[in-house]
Amino acid sequence: MTVAQGTTNHQVRLAARPTGLPKPSDWQFTEEALAEPGAGEFLVKTLMLSLDPAMRGWMNEGKSYIAPVGLGEVMRAGGIGKVIASQHPDFPVGTIVNGGLGVQEYLLVGRDNFKTVGPQRVDLNLAPAQKWLNPLGMPGMTAYFGLLDVGLPKPGETVVVSGAAGAVGQTVGQIAKIKGCRVVGIAGGAAKCEFVVRELGFDACIDYKHQPLKDGLKEHCPKGVDIYFDNVGGEILDTVLTRITRGARIIICGAISQYNNTTAIKGPSNYLSLLVNRARMEGIVVFDNAARFPEAIGAIAAWMKEGRFVSREDIVDGLAEFPDALLKLFNGENFGKLILRVAEG
Ligand SMILES: NC(=O)c1ccc[n+]([C@@H]2O[C@H](COP(=O)([O-])OP(=O)(O)OC[C@H]3O[C@@H](n4cnc5c(N)ncnc54)[C@H](OP(=O)(O)O)[C@@H]3O)[C@@H](O)[C@H]2O)c1
Repeated sequence: MTVAQGTTNHQVRLAARPTGLPKPSDWQFTEEALAEPGAGEFLVKTLMLSLDPAMRGWMNEGKSYIAPVGLGEVMRAGGIGKVIASQHPDFPVGTIVNGGLGVQEYLLVGRDNFKTVGPQRVDLNLAPAQKWLNPLGMPGMTAYFGLLDVGLPKPGETVVVSGAAGAVGQTVGQIAKIKGCRVVGIAGGAAKCEFVVRELGFDACIDYKHQPLKDGLKEHCPKGVDIYFDNVGGEILDTVLTRITRGARIIICGAISQYNNTTAIKGPSNYLSLLVNRARMEGIVVFDNAARFPEAIGAIAAWMKEGRFVSREDIVDGLAEFPDALLKLFNGENFGKLILRVAEG
């Protein structure tokens, strides 16, 4: 009996392009029989999937930094999996990989899809699987290169980061602290703000749901904002623009407040603050730095080992939970990097 024989692969496919927040009917649950790996192929069992705000963008038609997911296709997702059958010399049985596994239980990797899956070997001795989807994975890489290469932080500068308790935000703030900056987070709710200050070590956190952001920025950034790492866009970006310093750097990482809009995206009306302050705003896409990921993984893993860096994940169990779990990102229910556990390792 081979591994694949009699095994069913359960999958979640994109059934319709959503208007506003994704609805259950935008997804289709399917199943298909597994194929045994042929020459040069290997079969990966999904352990954990990364649930990302970007997934909402991939569901839309139209031009972006990456092609949309086609209707009827398995939903795109990065994840950690284990090789359970193999005819590939570099990926023997037992290898743990990080790659574009999709929202499904198994993936056969071969010549046709090797490049799109982009499997990378993962060392679970360095850190457990969930950390490879957070600080040592895509969110961590986004934070590291966005802050250091575009933000160019200098000791003593004030760095503000929105989505501060989330995947990217928690890493941005901790790296900024390591670089000697004063760091102020923006997050929704007292529990998240307490975590950001007490456990992540930020200097302050503004609970934008319970205090006008403008007041919080005045109180916690008395000298203004030298670097703003923007994860949310919308009104928060517009308000921070009123407090930037001369030569400020604004990193446009994401705009989650706008992803489910049914009307046009709201851009900043205070953009002339860039002119007055000789400031700049620059967009980033994490994959542009793929060749340098080992550098960032090495640095963050070393900080973790030294006890200077912590991270939090929010793990939901079961492939069937995918549609509801994804929504947690858009209502702020996730507390830390949102992960879907599909199977035990
Ligand atoms: N450019 C890139 O290459 C790249 C790569 C990775 C991620 N990103 C972007 O980075 C951002 C953060 O991603 P992540 O994975 O770290 O997500 P996350 O912060 O772990 O989760 C999303 C958080 O966004 C906040 N949020 C949701 N709706 C909001 C709204 N209307 N206004 C303000 N805040 C809102 C919520 O936090 P609160 O409870 O605090 O409101 C929620 O927990 C996203 O915009 C994502 O698209 C970009």
